[in-house]
Amino acid sequence: MCGIIGYVGPRDAGNILMEGLRRLEYRGYDSAGIAILTPDGKLAVEKRPGKIGELEGALNGRPPPGRCGIAHTRWATHGAPTTANAHPQLSSARDIALVHNGIIESAARQRPKLRDLGFDFRSETDTEVLVHLIDLAFRDCDRLEDAVATALAGVEGTYGIAVVSSRDPGKIVVARNGSPVLLGIGDRDEYFVASDAAAVVAHTQRVVRLRDGDSAVLSAGGYRTFDPSRRSVWRGAQIVDWSPESVGKGGYDHYMYKEIREQPSSLRDVLRGRLLEEEGSARLGGIARAEAELLDTDRIVITACGTSWHAGLIGAYMLEELARVPVTVEYASEFRYRNAVLSPRTLVLGISQSGETADTLAALREARRRRCRTMGIVNVVGSSIAAEVDFGVYLHAGPEIGVASTKSFSSQVVALALFTLFMARRRSMSIVDGREMVDALRRLPAQVEEALAVDDAVREMTEAYKDAPNFLYLGRGYQFPVALEGALKMKEVSYIHAEGYPAAEMKHGPIALIDENMPVVVLAPRDAVYAKTVSNIEEVRARRGRVIAVVSEDDDGETIQADERIVIPSTIPALMPVLATVPLQLLAYHVAVLRGCDVDQPRNLAKSVTVE
Ligand code: M6R
Repeated sequence: MCGIIGYVGPRDAGNILMEGLRRLEYRGYDSAGIAILTPDGKLAVEKRPGKIGELEGALNGRPPPGRCGIAHTRWATHGAPTTANAHPQLSSARDIALVHNGIIESAARQRPKLRDLGFDFRSETDTEVLVHLIDLAFRDCDRLEDAVATALAGVEGTYGIAVVSSRDPGKIVVARNGSPVLLGIGDRDEYFVASDAAAVVAHTQRVVRLRDGDSAVLSAGGYRTFDPSRRSVWRGAQIVDWSPESVGKGGYDHYMYKEIREQPSSLRDVLRGRLLEEEGSARLGGIARAEAELLDTDRIVITACGTSWHAGLIGAYMLEELARVPVTVEYASEFRYRNAVLSPRTLVLGISQSGETADTLAALREARRRRCRTMGIVNVVGSSIAAEVDFGVYLHAGPEIGVASTKSFSSQVVALALFTLFMARRRSMSIVDGREMVDALRRLPAQVEEALAVDDAVREMTEAYKDAPNFLYLGRGYQFPVALEGALKMKEVSYIHAEGYPAAEMKHGPIALIDENMPVVVLAPRDAVYAKTVSNIEEVRARRGRVIAVVSEDDDGETIQADERIVIPSTIPALMPVLATVPLQLLAYHVAVLRGCDVDQPRNLAKSVTVE
């Protein structure tokens, strides 16, 4: 969701904050603002609706001078994207500025009481309540951190906040409860606060991740961290293994395209050191100590959102087919609020690129409360989900900045394949089958490289489809989740309505939509259900639908009649989704570019959904 950046140190804060905002823009981009403590002891504030460029324009390339400040890029929860609703939110005297990620759930209740005390509200945001509460508390204390603590004690909700005030200048007060905040520790007596490491890696790779309930005070002289009871506590710094270059576009026009093209290397990274060729198995350091519990598991519940949920569906197919363990896949937002049947032998596996998705985090907390074992498959090291689960597997996919998930999806599927191999070899899979799967995994990155060779052909065909009002995606078995993922990619970056369906289900309703204007993308690799998929293609053609078939290299080239054929390499069925997804990512990307859409920052979306 929203992005937060703050700086205190010997350099001018303005340009550092603006650069940080650009790095964070993918977290939310409907308005932005900056507040800097200037040398004359004032708080200079600028806010604008729209993207960071609007704020840059308003500042005319010259942010106010000063060595301590905070900034914010917003994804609206309460109140439309206007200047008044943009952050920082300010106290009535404009001497306290607050940036916030999360939701103050008690705001509606507290607003009338604050009005009665004489506070004016200039915005519709929940955040303004918090800034007035800090102002109120400041009447009885001298230190900003004390006022913030008193105010926070009186609210309910989630927050990652950074606060500055001209009444207690030279410091940033930070607090976290349910929304991520980290501190960046620079080399030259300079300190950062950010909602995401991507915003600070250009300056430092040393970060301190605050825990829920923690607070911190940063000044040019150092930083101090406090636990939920406000006792001074040491939270050690970790080194983020993201290079400054990895958060750039690497010469490409868009992050999404860069990340699609990066998949061969991100897959090598998720596999590195994890394949046991002789044993036909997988070594996963993060779950090795939990082997006994995993073998005692009688059921797995996979929970996730969006693209990660699609990866989870593929994982369920793999785990049931190869490891013979019962699996259900739940939307995290549904799982949390329904009374699922769970036991201490149930493993609840959360999948998340960011490790911060509020629904997935809440689902895992619910699972823990119900005494289940919890496991995570997560990309961002040290993120909330990674910190809270009992054990887990990291993707090592590097930073994913494009709002549409691409490389994290393929890495999630491969991590699930490794987990399946780990489980299957300890249950019923033979060493021969295990070695076959290891070999397929070893060859996969190079095959993704081959699959990427369809790029030009896909780009050329998009002209004919870019104005289609709808797309239908069909697949069976392992290809059904691929159909869902292809449709989600098309929807989110091109704004074309798209639906993914199990190919055979088409007859039970969606077939009514098919006419000569409906492109139907059919996933049709040579697998156990190939003949059935071919029949479904014929049903589409009989209704004059335009068929875009994704076929494997071992296809005979004659059985499937299609308007377009996209040929991808062949591997074992469980891994075909990784290869089949590549052309669908490219199709969505090229259609969106041709339609002039903002591929990396699609409207209404945010990369990391940290509110429920
Ligand atoms: O960070 P997560 O994997 O938990 O995020 C889950 C979804 O919000 C995410 O996959 C979303 O659906 C993407 N925009 C899809 O491209």
